[in-house]
Amino acid sequence: MELCNNPILMSDQNVMENIVSLCKRRGFIFPGSEIYGGLAGIYDYGPLGVELRHNIKQHFWNRFIAERDDVYGMSAAILMPERVWEASGHSTSFADPMVECNICHEQLRADQPEILVDHEAFHKGEKVEWSNQTPFNLLVPTRLGASEKSATTAYLRGEVTQGVQVNFKNILDSMHPKLPFGIGQIGKAFRNEIAPRDFLFRQREFEQMELQYYIRPDEEEGKKQFEYWKQFAFDWYVSLGFKKEHLRLRQHADDERAHYAKDAWDIEFSSPMGWKEAWGVHHRGDWDLRRHQEYSGVSMEYVDPDTGEKSIPWDIECSGGVDRAVLFVLLEAYREDELGGEVRTYLALAPKIAPVKAAVFPLLKNKPELVAKAREIYSSLKTLVSSIQFDDNGNIGKRYRRQDEIGTPFCVTIDFDTLGEHPELKDTVTLRHRDTGEQERLSIPEAAARICSAIE
Ligand code: GAP
Repeated sequence: MELCNNPILMSDQNVMENIVSLCKRRGFIFPGSEIYGGLAGIYDYGPLGVELRHNIKQHFWNRFIAERDDVYGMSAAILMPERVWEASGHSTSFADPMVECNICHEQLRADQPEILVDHEAFHKGEKVEWSNQTPFNLLVPTRLGASEKSATTAYLRGEVTQGVQVNFKNILDSMHPKLPFGIGQIGKAFRNEIAPRDFLFRQREFEQMELQYYIRPDEEEGKKQFEYWKQFAFDWYVSLGFKKEHLRLRQHADDERAHYAKDAWDIEFSSPMGWKEAWGVHHRGDWDLRRHQEYSGVSMEYVDPDTGEKSIPWDIECSGGVDRAVLFVLLEAYREDELGGEVRTYLALAPKIAPVKAAVFPLLKNKPELVAKAREIYSSLKTLVSSIQFDDNGNIGKRYRRQDEIGTPFCVTIDFDTLGEHPELKDTVTLRHRDTGEQERLSIPEAAARICSAIE
């Protein structure tokens, strides 16, 4: 019996707290530098979290870049000079409105009423007066160079996008692409968020997976490509294992759009905190290339190889947060149900992103012949599927529960029939399915094929 699988219904049950606790207990995600008290909005990924995150990034890389003939991948540096951010408009426009509490002087975002209401409740009995709003720039500066005199200010990039824009000419000159074409990148971004909150949702250091798709500067072409990438990004997000009804596309209002966007849509997830942005699709027009041309003095013009016509291409951007995808995937997958008379917690992760694809068990730990056979099967499976675990610790029920909780889609159990106690069952195993707890008896190659096809 499924007790709960809907993130909206589970909001009352503190699903977020359950996820945070599961992530720490089972080695997914820890507060950053925890033994020193940590830093707000900074998290470290443990062994299972890093696999989950890697699988999401790999899925992005495959669909948006590697499988396409019209997209190149790249990886730019995190540190960029001040001039880049002046050109991109972030030095002046990348700011959130901030207000200060007159009682404790805490500074909070002015555009998130629920945070202000929470803060006022914290000072119960006292009247909070908020200061006038001031813009607070989110870019994170640092100093490069040994002496105070010669050191220069550089910035940890506030969006990975600019690494692609400043390399546009390098890609033109080295790869000679024809429009339309894209440049994709995955990497860290940094924002001095006024109020980091909701676990991985709003962090100060996070990862983005992005595609900048350059097109002919033409209104009709712009509309067509924008629709195409909106749908492509939405379908990709669904393929991470979401129910379609838990996601929606929402257009930004005029006063909501970033300074670079002619049009902007978010893919939103129905989370316990309400509908929240997972991903942005932005029509950036020629904003970035034109500004970099102006500020660097280097031409960003594309020359059509057939007609010789020169133009500055427009950019349709797909921009997703990797950590937000990790969080939303965990929220979507979190389940509590009753199996075999016991309440269990499990993560119904799509097999292709699950950190562990299968676990191999000998039925009993103290029977050397079972353990030897299980080890042999484990080794041969590992040549096909690298992310598998061997577990002979505790009784088999406990091992299933441990794997369920980390979202392992399959458990392979080696028992006396595998050894040939009933000769007709020799070299067969049981394959247990995480979501239903059902088991089937299969030959070893059949079980391997079942696992391999599920994780494709
Ligand atoms: N290049 C465009 C850009 O950066 P954005 O809407 O500011 O656009 C894109 O960010 C995505 O990056 C968001 O949809 C979100 O998934 C993720 N993101 C933004 N700020 C974040 C933060 N503070 N913590 C975690 N993820 C964040």
